[in-house]
Amino acid sequence: MYRPLGMTVSRHIMDLQRMHPEATGDLSGLLNELIVAAKTISAEVNMAGLADVLGMSGKTNIQGEEVQKLDEFADNTIKRRMARCGYLCVMTSEEEEDIIPVREGYEGKYTLAFDPLDGSSNIDVNVSIGTIFSIHRRKSDDGKSPFGRRNTDIEEEWHPAEGKPGSALDILQKGCYQVAAGYIIYGSSTMLVFTTGEGVHGFTLDPSVGEFYLSHPEIRIPQRSKYFSVNEGNYSYWNDNMRRYINYLKEQDKENGRPYSSRYIGSLVADFHRNLITGGIFLYPKDNKDPAKPSGKLRLLYEAAPLAYIVEQAGGRAITGDGREIMEIEPEELHQRVPLIIGSRYDIDEAEAFLDGRK
Ligand code: AHG
Ligand code: MN
Ligand code: MN
Repeated sequence: MYRPLGMTVSRHIMDLQRMHPEATGDLSGLLNELIVAAKTISAEVNMAGLADVLGMSGKTNIQGEEVQKLDEFADNTIKRRMARCGYLCVMTSEEEEDIIPVREGYEGKYTLAFDPLDGSSNIDVNVSIGTIFSIHRRKSDDGKSPFGRRNTDIEEEWHPAEGKPGSALDILQKGCYQVAAGYIIYGSSTMLVFTTGEGVHGFTLDPSVGEFYLSHPEIRIPQRSKYFSVNEGNYSYWNDNMRRYINYLKEQDKENGRPYSSRYIGSLVADFHRNLITGGIFLYPKDNKDPAKPSGKLRLLYEAAPLAYIVEQAGGRAITGDGREIMEIEPEELHQRVPLIIGSRYDIDEAEAFLDGRK
């Protein structure tokens, strides 16, 4: 059957590269290798019901959570492929306590933080899950942070510590210094959504060809929406301002578009992706449910920061709800948790007014 020759993701990446004469092609190579890992994980996820990859691996990760077999498969798939891609100097994964070194002699100038499989609790019940990734440039020899967004606010000539293994310091950089961020969602179809600072674009996998085709160019999140996405089972653990805000969304006020509809899948990638397309606000606020997790459940480096970069590039906003923008947080440790309130700009601004007591 004749298939229209759509824009493939590799062509899109090459077009992006051509927009930057100084580009060496390393970021393109990195993204293309990551996409091969994503296709491998997608094939396994789609076979999960048949292959022996459902259920627990019997192990527990640094988060103190039981590791699903598919978590482990996805983690290994990305680690092994990216360790010798030649574009990275160091990695960090939700499933690994410490930084992950790259193969000696293959050190490159970027770093990778990733959540190999997000939404693990949904694996065995066939609900959408995903992979989230975040890419920074490594720090320069003298430890200075490199550029901010690519080509927008280059602070000074940057000399990556060529050929040397990276360290946690190369990973612990603010979200606004990300060079690229994205996610793959394994749902009714497998989609790749990512940004390199020139807008957000979505690609859908044609499994019969094994190729990602551009299906959602220039994604913009609606400025306001009628969906809120939060685990209301935690209501009793929230502070009063958070409770007031959610109760406000549920009041009848047709003129002002209330009540909102509630949508909560329990996979961050799926909840976020729905809001990116239809508009909406996702909240995983701080709560007093677990004294060990006063800042909520989600992690900064490989969940909140990459999605914050994407949502800002799509015209939305991402905050903590206690006065901080996600993209401005200086990370202190690899698995640092942060409250996350992310989505349509109008809704985030309104939530912020409740959470800091102005409304
Ligand atoms: P992960 O599977 O990578 O640990 O992430 C799970 C996260 C996120 O996907 C989702 O938003 C959140 O857990 C759901 O948490 P609750 O079940 O507490 O609502
Ligand atoms: Mn996750
Ligand atoms: Mn995960």
